[in-house]
Parts: sequence; C-alpha cells; structure tokens
Amino acid sequence: MAVTTTQLIQWKQEKRPIVALTAWDYCFAQLLDEAGVDLILVGDSLGMVALGYETTLPVTLEQMLHHTAAVCRGVKRALVVCDLPFLSYQQNISHAINSAGRVLKETGAQAVKVEGGNPIVAQIVSQLTTFGIPVMGHVGLTPQSVHKIGYKQQGNNPQDAEKIFNEAIALVQAGVFAIILEHIPSELAKKITERIPIPTIGIGAGNFCDGQVLVTADLLGLTEKQPPFANPYVNLRQIITQTVQTYASQIREL
Ligand code: KIV
Repeated sequence: MAVTTTQLIQWKQEKRPIVALTAWDYCFAQLLDEAGVDLILVGDSLGMVALGYETTLPVTLEQMLHHTAAVCRGVKRALVVCDLPFLSYQQNISHAINSAGRVLKETGAQAVKVEGGNPIVAQIVSQLTTFGIPVMGHVGLTPQSVHKIGYKQQGNNPQDAEKIFNEAIALVQAGVFAIILEHIPSELAKKITERIPIPTIGIGAGNFCDGQVLVTADLLGLTEKQPPFANPYVNLRQIITQTVQTYASQIREL
C-alpha cells in the first residue's frame, strides 16, 4: 500500500522507525522503492550530487520539477517529497502556492519541503496546508542558508537550541506533517521528537528521531566527500571506477 502522510504520523505513534533517502532520477527511485524505503525526498542536494553545483542555491524550480517527475515515474509505494528550492517560496505566499502547486500538478509528488521555521516560513506553510498541500519542515542545518550559518552543527549553545526548538513548534502549529532535523545535537533532537506529535526525520541528529534520512549518494559512497555524519555503507565510486577500467581494458584488447 502506498505510504501517506497520515501513515507516517501513525508510525511515530507506534514507534516504528521511518526510513527515508534522497533520489534524483528514475533508476535510483525505482531501486529505493523496491528496497522498501518509506519516504523518498527529491532533495535540492541534487544540485551538488546530480548537477555539479557547489551549493543548493543555484537549483531552480524547473530543475526540481524535471527530476521529481522522473523519480515519481519510478515509485509505486514510497511517499515522494520534493524540496522547494531557494527563492521559489520565500518571496510571498502566492509565489509559494504557485511553486508548490506546480510540484503537485506536474510531477506526481505528494508533498513539498521548505527550510527554516521563522514566522514568514511558518505563515507560508500555514497557507499551503490550508490549500491541501502537505508540507514537510526542515530545521537545524538548513543548506539554503549556508552563506549565513555555514555547513556546521547548529543548536549547540542554549540560545540556538531554543531558537531551533521554537521553529519546530511553529512549524507544527502551521501544519507540517513531519520535520527534518539536520546536524543538531542528539539531545535537542530528542527534546523536539518527544514534544511534537508528528515525526522527526534526522540527518546527523542522533538516534532519538522517529526516522532517519541520508543523501543516497553519501550512503552509497558515490560522492567525492561526505558530511561528517554520513558513513557510506559501500564505496560505489571505487567499484564503478574499477568496473569501467575493466571494461575499457577489455575493449582495448579486442
Ligand atoms: O536536499 C536534501 O537532500 C536534504 C536532505 C539533506 C535532508 O534536504
């Protein structure tokens, strides 16, 4: 049966961990779905993984629509969530509704994700959910703010921890169905997870979240370098290079 946002909330209540990974194309989406991943995030990390950008900032809505539609064609069971890229939702509510609406209408994804939990983002989330668009939140290390906060652990002093906690609460009040907690101390993730009625999905946030997500390219060792919290389970980069070298040497011996 296809995974729904309501199912995710029920799994939190049942303490059944949620398995999430990112995908950016049809082939990986099909593999992840067949392997039983519950939630597939078409993260704007595809900007680095699939498009070779330094950060997620250059990623456009058109690129997200293109990749998300490909992912959805490969998925039968998992819930597909599409990241709204930088400046596709922050300007004003009608812009956000237009971007999120295009994701649902044109790709087949069931939900969108936004970064941050300040009052402007919370208001946007509230409007989107009012129009029936499921939204996932994302607090802690929010890569679209990299030039302000850097790629480092967030919430490791009392003021920052309180800010992140309050952002999570504001997002819940605005109507998100789940929140990504990225690169924050595990005690803070535990506090948020215990306090809110919707699932937390952690990435570099310890073991107390209701689920875990990783960028699939990091999990599989496809990326040149991984963030400190991502332990590759296999070195596919090496395996692919060796396989291609074997192929090349066989061709050259023909
Ligand atoms: O873009 C992405 O892949 C993400 C994950 C790191 C959660 O937002």
